[in-house]
Amino acid sequence: MQTIHVRTVPEYSVTIAPGLLGCCGQALREIMSPCRMAVVTDGAVAPLYLETVRESLESAGFAVSPYIFPAGEGSKNLTTLANILEFLAERRLTRTDCVIALGGGVTGDMAGFAAAVYLRGIRYVQLPTTLLAAVDSSVGGKTAIDLAAGKNLAGAFLQPAAVLCDTDCLATLPKDVFADGAAEAIKTGVLCDESLFALFESGALAAEPAEVIARCVGYKAGVVERDEKEQGERKLLNLGHTVGHAIEKCSGYAVPHGHAVAAGLAVIARAAEALGWAEEPIAGRIAACLAQNGLPTGTDFPPEALAEAASADKKRAGGDITLVVPRRIGLCELKTIPVPELLNVIRAGWEG
Ligand code: GLY
Repeated sequence: MQTIHVRTVPEYSVTIAPGLLGCCGQALREIMSPCRMAVVTDGAVAPLYLETVRESLESAGFAVSPYIFPAGEGSKNLTTLANILEFLAERRLTRTDCVIALGGGVTGDMAGFAAAVYLRGIRYVQLPTTLLAAVDSSVGGKTAIDLAAGKNLAGAFLQPAAVLCDTDCLATLPKDVFADGAAEAIKTGVLCDESLFALFESGALAAEPAEVIARCVGYKAGVVERDEKEQGERKLLNLGHTVGHAIEKCSGYAVPHGHAVAAGLAVIARAAEALGWAEEPIAGRIAACLAQNGLPTGTDFPPEALAEAASADKKRAGGDITLVVPRRIGLCELKTIPVPELLNVIRAGWEG
């Protein structure tokens, strides 16, 4: 078992181990008294894990009310959020109760946002079941839904009370869903640690996921502790996301988040090289690593459409947008450019 403490307010632990869903009730009784728990999950995850979680929570003395919504990014909207909030109110959850997010990134973001606004904020716990949620979205307290204008445009910062990452869930993930998480893990390697990146080149992700999750979460925890509300350093975690979010939006969210981030990472790496921002050749190595892990390294959406979609991104501030630019593997920097220059950057790195 690996435990990483995130020293935010409130502090919490991320526990990474096999079999955690089956003993989540016991684990949560160590940090909270018996209370009502709304377990928010989607139609794909519920048949796999809901009963295990319900049994464990109930045998530890918690009263469980499950809320199941249709799986997919298309559900991450105001309508589902409203339905979850009405459900919490109908079930009379109070400020001493708790929301459980059981699932991947969409579930965690949306259940977390519901917890952040219901009664002006109640506790929530993340039970990530995908690699993407395990290495990235379940940690750090970003909660959100999508708006018609773009991805994650409404949300709040609320740190979870705990993250319990059951590594047994990863074994049954479809290949594409596993690859989605690989994109965020590879992103972390490019950001902070060439030796972590080298693990992905050597195919260690499938062999040692717990080790990789712990290293990614350890890095992210440090960034979040230093910059919880994304005033500076935390912006680095958006590497690959400007173009990635644009690809998701252009595809009507048919391209999954991790696949879009992978293509976005490949585009910005090629652009960094072409524009002389990188210290050494990096784009070929990053693209090869993404491809080896089943991820795309380009997009058919033209640069003009991507630049237009990205101009609504929340990384925009007034007439400027801040990009995360790789200088070498393990070191990235923030670069703020006028929005009209974004098209040239995307053109410099675009490949179909
Ligand atoms: N996924 C980026 C962040 O949590 O800041």
